[in-house]
Amino acid sequence: MTAVSHLLYRSLLRPILFQLDAETAHRATLAALGVLPAIRRADPPALATRVWNIDFSNPVGLAAGLDKDARAMGAWETLGFGFAELGTITPLAQPGNERPRMWRLTEHRAIINRLGFPSLGKDAAMRRVERFRAHPRRIRIGLNFGPNRSTPPEKIADDYARLIAEMGWLADFIVINVSSPNTPGLRDWQAPQALAALLDRIVAARRALQTAPPLLVKLAPDFDAAAIVEICTAAAAHGADGFVAGNTTLARAEYGLVDAPPGGLSGSPLLARARALIQTVYRATEGRLPIIGVGGIFSAEDAWGHLAAGASLVEIYTGFIYEGPALVGTIKRGLMRLMRKGGWRSISEVTGSEAR
Ligand SMILES: Cc1cc2nc3c(=O)[nH]c(=O)nc-3n(C[C@H](O)[C@H](O)[C@H](O)COP(=O)(O)O)c2cc1C
Repeated sequence: MTAVSHLLYRSLLRPILFQLDAETAHRATLAALGVLPAIRRADPPALATRVWNIDFSNPVGLAAGLDKDARAMGAWETLGFGFAELGTITPLAQPGNERPRMWRLTEHRAIINRLGFPSLGKDAAMRRVERFRAHPRRIRIGLNFGPNRSTPPEKIADDYARLIAEMGWLADFIVINVSSPNTPGLRDWQAPQALAALLDRIVAARRALQTAPPLLVKLAPDFDAAAIVEICTAAAAHGADGFVAGNTTLARAEYGLVDAPPGGLSGSPLLARARALIQTVYRATEGRLPIIGVGGIFSAEDAWGHLAAGASLVEIYTGFIYEGPALVGTIKRGLMRLMRKGGWRSISEVTGSEAR
């Protein structure tokens, strides 16, 4: 069944979607997925894993940016994801950057985007997530938050605090996005002192919630190892519970892409860079703060490599666009095969096995 749907996607659906410009294809797909009901078979127990005291039925998640406005949660459940990270959600609706702002680099199995957080805003997403969470679900929901572009630097912390105070209760985990390259100045919040001050404010906002979902910081993959260690140390000392490693890269030259459009590069070229980031974060925190590994995953082997480098969970975005929905099942089955082959009993055993 999965082989058939993979073939259908590759030979029929993808050629049609790839005829359209990237953003139109994305919208059409999301609209179609949005009407899928949430029907879900149970995952094999071997894939179950517990992170931050939350039970995940499998470790494969949807990365942020694909479902920015929480339009298709039922579809992510049906397609077999263990979790979906929705967003980036901003407090107020905003249009994002001018088009064109998303490009496929087919021969590189990559995407470049400079979307700049187009968002319907907190209230729209909140209504949908609330409705979805009114029923029992297998899938876990992460909410990824970012500031409005028009917010002045001295008010950025207020944007995050407001999102957490008003919407954080709906999340299994919260991701603080300070690493998108497409909102001017946003990445500067990763500087250790700035991040520490921001986290103090954010942790205080979370304290007001009855539930206290874990707070993850999403990192850029464009720092050297020493800088990553400083950032992680500051984040850990100021209340971060984990990391998403990582976001898109601004690097071009090493991929032979100097003439490519501006924006964040994702997909195959990012795999090694994301892997190095995961491993550095894992070592810097001595494996104490769980990591969601994301960047360049197109196969079970890619996902396994991120887990072995230190990730507790993984996410896909660009691989999903190129390989289609069957990739979720392919990765899950492949992870089971690799576990059996190596005699691993659980996903959590694999985490960091090649980083220690
Ligand atoms: C078109 C596009 C939009 C994205 N939007 C967001 C976003 O809004 N927030 C965010 O944290 N990451 C965003 N990302 C980054 C992804 O979540 C992920 O970190 C990155 O693409 C690397 O994973 P991949 O190689 O599997 O795509 C976006 C990526 C793409 C390709």
